[in-house]
Amino acid sequence: MKEPIDREIAELARDDDALCDGIHQDDNPVPLWFNVGFYGLIVVGLVYMVYYTTSGWSSAGMYEAQVAAAEARAEAVRASLPTSNPYRGDAIAIQEGSEVFTTICAACHKPDGSGLVGPSLVDSYWKYGDDDEALYASVAEGRPEGMPPWGTQLGSEKVWKVLAYLETLPKSDQPGVGAPDYDAASAGVAGS
Ligand code: HEC
Repeated sequence: MKEPIDREIAELARDDDALCDGIHQDDNPVPLWFNVGFYGLIVVGLVYMVYYTTSGWSSAGMYEAQVAAAEARAEAVRASLPTSNPYRGDAIAIQEGSEVFTTICAACHKPDGSGLVGPSLVDSYWKYGDDDEALYASVAEGRPEGMPPWGTQLGSEKVWKVLAYLETLPKSDQPGVGAPDYDAASAGVAGS
């Protein structure tokens, strides 16, 4: 038991070292990288505080500016979208539209449009409306009771083209085979 006490006394004799509870502690200089980082951050903080309080810049203001810019862009896009069918009566576009209808829509609406899983598109009743904007929304964005959205896959041009084709189909007020019973619904709408 003699040796540890000797070592303790020897440690205490070294005035540049500290000893506490038998733990020997060196007194190394703070490394340069730490000081550079530490004081550097204080400087950055001060510069930031001065800049933030005097320049009028703020992250909230930056956010608002970005939102305003995005809204302006969205408004420009909205304004540039056609609200009526640009391909109405255009023979080439109608031809392209008929191809889209045959490959995609006919499976549910029947090749003559009289309805199968989806409702008839050649009768006079339109659940969601038959103005150009409503028809465009039905096809591009889909409708809740089983009409998938086609806007992404087809792009707006082809949506308008298929609608231009739709207008050329012979009208029929016969309910399509298997088509949902829209008669009851249409009576309700007509009454409202
Ligand atoms: C997977 C089957 C399916 C396909 C494919 C499909 N539809 Fe439909 N469509 C439906 C169903 C079901 C409805 C009824 C949705 C509802 O009532 O909410 C509907 C509704 C519609 C309506 C609204 C009818 C109304 O009365 O307002 C239009 C217009 C329409 N489809 C056009 C198209 C066109 C054009 C295509 C091809 C690009 C297409 N559909 C492809 C199933 C389909």
